[in-house]
Amino acid sequence: MEVSVFFAPLQGLTDHEFRLTYESVFGGVKEYFTPFMRVESGVIRKSDLRELNFVQKEAKTTPQILPKNSLEAAILVEQIYAAGCRRVDINMGCPFVKVVQGVRGAGILPYPEKVADVLSVTEKFPEITFSLKMRSGLESSTDLWSLIPIINKVNLRHVTLHARTAKEGYDGEPDKKVFARFLSECSHPVVYNGNILSFQGVKKLQEDFPLLSGVMIGRGLLAHPDLLHPEWNCTERKARCVDFYERIYDAYARKFSGEMQILKHMQEFWTYFMPDADKKLKKKLKKTQSLFAFEGYAQRILEEYNYS
Ligand SMILES: Cc1cc2nc3c(=O)[nH]c(=O)nc-3n(C[C@H](O)[C@H](O)[C@H](O)COP(=O)(O)O)c2cc1C
Repeated sequence: MEVSVFFAPLQGLTDHEFRLTYESVFGGVKEYFTPFMRVESGVIRKSDLRELNFVQKEAKTTPQILPKNSLEAAILVEQIYAAGCRRVDINMGCPFVKVVQGVRGAGILPYPEKVADVLSVTEKFPEITFSLKMRSGLESSTDLWSLIPIINKVNLRHVTLHARTAKEGYDGEPDKKVFARFLSECSHPVVYNGNILSFQGVKKLQEDFPLLSGVMIGRGLLAHPDLLHPEWNCTERKARCVDFYERIYDAYARKFSGEMQILKHMQEFWTYFMPDADKKLKKKLKKTQSLFAFEGYAQRILEEYNYS
């Protein structure tokens, strides 16, 4: 594959345990991004610090930050620098209401001066390589067009565009016309994100956008973690998926203490994993309050799944 493939950050899903397991069972991804880290009461969140301690040991993972202004950005980048990481991704795409109301994530996009303020962190830390992940706007993609001169002025290794507004959420196709215009006007390498669900989907994007430098895939890889390996046969796919499930289970059993916590996280994992599996079994797996019953449903799904 000519374009680089990045694994999108997904809060609550693509944590350290997930990334390590994915890398050892499937691989094929150039880089992973942590779910966003943020400041609370003037310091980095405790859970983010835990994640950061792991990222130190993951050569292929870049920490992502969700700052409101250059002050918050500097607090986060200093911690990341101290942890030994030299790459940082800046989030300007999160559409969650609370985040947007706090003028973070996609909430910052209508304010060019605030975007410029956050991006000024790139000048303050020249030893760090920054990238940016953004949506096309809060309510309208007109936000994007006024930000291009600001984005072009700073030093970034790439910009990932999820060409939907925050208002559009996660459904439907990203706006390819908006993406095409951004690709032609942005002076940095550009990465496509949003609804890539198959290997053919990646190929098609390469054909449609020859100047593309990479693709970032989130839910597509959660659903079909073998997506980047069309060369594997059914037996190989089955062996890898079963191995993947078992390793994730073991990792979460070590990470979380009580049975209910393990169950909750495994059920969240299965919200995305194998969406085309037997519907009745999946419903039972999602609803059960028993970890023992959950394991039984999961084993049956993995056994009966059509891996072609
Ligand atoms: C549950 C969930 C959590 C997410 N968390 C993050 C996050 O922490 N940082 C981020 O930049 N994007 C986050 N995203 C957005 C994804 O990285 C990605 O941009 C989006 O899902 C579209 O790509 P996809 O269709 O390939 O999944 C999240 C999305 C979902 C569904």
